[in-house]
Amino acid sequence: MSLYGKSFLKLLDFSKEEIDEYLSLASRLKEKKKRGIPHEIAKGKNIALVFEKTSTRTRCAFEVAAADLGMRAVYLDPKSSQIGKKESLADSAKVLGRMFDAIEYRGFAQEIVEDIARYSGVPTFNGLTNEFHPTQILADFLTIKEKFGKTEGITLCYYGDARYNMGNSLMIGAAKEGMHFVACCPEKYRPNQALVREAERIAKASGGSVRFSTDPEKGSVGADVVYTDVWVSMGEEESVWKERIQDLLPYRVTKKVMENAKESAIFMHCLPAFHDLGTEVGRAIYEKFGIREMEVSDEVFNGPRSVVFDEAENRLHTIKAVIAASLVKEIE
Ligand code: CP
Repeated sequence: MSLYGKSFLKLLDFSKEEIDEYLSLASRLKEKKKRGIPHEIAKGKNIALVFEKTSTRTRCAFEVAAADLGMRAVYLDPKSSQIGKKESLADSAKVLGRMFDAIEYRGFAQEIVEDIARYSGVPTFNGLTNEFHPTQILADFLTIKEKFGKTEGITLCYYGDARYNMGNSLMIGAAKEGMHFVACCPEKYRPNQALVREAERIAKASGGSVRFSTDPEKGSVGADVVYTDVWVSMGEEESVWKERIQDLLPYRVTKKVMENAKESAIFMHCLPAFHDLGTEVGRAIYEKFGIREMEVSDEVFNGPRSVVFDEAENRLHTIKAVIAASLVKEIE
C-alpha cells in the first residue's frame, strides 16, 4: 500500500488501512519531533496554502509541518491572490500545479477542492470545506489512539450541530475505524440522509455503528469520547444565532453530560471554542442572549477530562504525515 502521490480530500476516499497508515506515520514523526531528530525528508519541495476562510491551527500546522519537512510554504488568501476573482479556479489551479508540488485549500464547497486536485495535477489537501474537515479527524483519531490505545470499539458521542463538516467527517471516519458514532442533537441537526446511509453501510462492514439520540441526558451514556463543535460554522450569517442557541442550548456539554459518560471518558473539541467571555464573539453573544458559555461549559473545557490541547497539537503531526506520505516515496 502506498499513499505516495495521493490527494487528501475526504475520508470516504480511503480505507481503514490507509487511515491507520497516516496515523502510524504521524506517531513516528511526532516522536522524531519530540526527540529533536531532524526529518527534512521533503527538502526543496513547495506547497501553496490557499485559505478562503480564517484559520489558526490548520494554517500553523501546515506551515510548521512544511518547515520541519524542509519545504517552503506560500500562503495565499483571497485578498492577495486572483483566485476566483480575476482568474477562474481552473486556471489558477493549473498555474499553481506548474509551480508547487502540493496545494492545501480551505474554503467553501467540497467540489472546489476536488476541482483544484483535478486541474492542478498535484496532490491537494483539504484544509476544511463546508462538507468535510478530514485533517481534523486524523488529529482526533491520533489523540484517541494515544488515550485509549485503539480506535476500534470506541464510542464517540457528538453533541450539537452534526450537519456540517465536523459531524459528517467524524461520522464517516468513525464508521471506517469500526467505532460507534452517536450524534446527540435535535433531529433537524443530523447529517444528510444519504451520508448517514453510506456511514451505516461502512460501519456494518467495520464492526462499528451509527446512532442518533435527541436526549442530552442519555446521549453520552457509555461514551468514551464526548465531542462538540461551535454552533455556528464559518461563513454562516449572524442572524442564525438566535435559533441555533434556542435549539442547541440543551445540548451543551456540561459536567452532567460528562458524568453520564464512562468514568474514563475524555472531552474533545476541534477548536476554537466558546466556553467563556474571552472572545469578541463570546462577549457579543453574552450581551445579546445573556449566556456566558455556549457549546461547552468552561468547567468541562478546562477540566481534567479535556484533551483539547493535545488534540490541537496533533494537527501538526497528522498534517505533516499527510504531506510526507504524499510527497516522499520512502519514509523510514
Ligand atoms: N480546528 C481548526 O480547523 O482550527 P482552525 O480553524 O484554527 O484552523
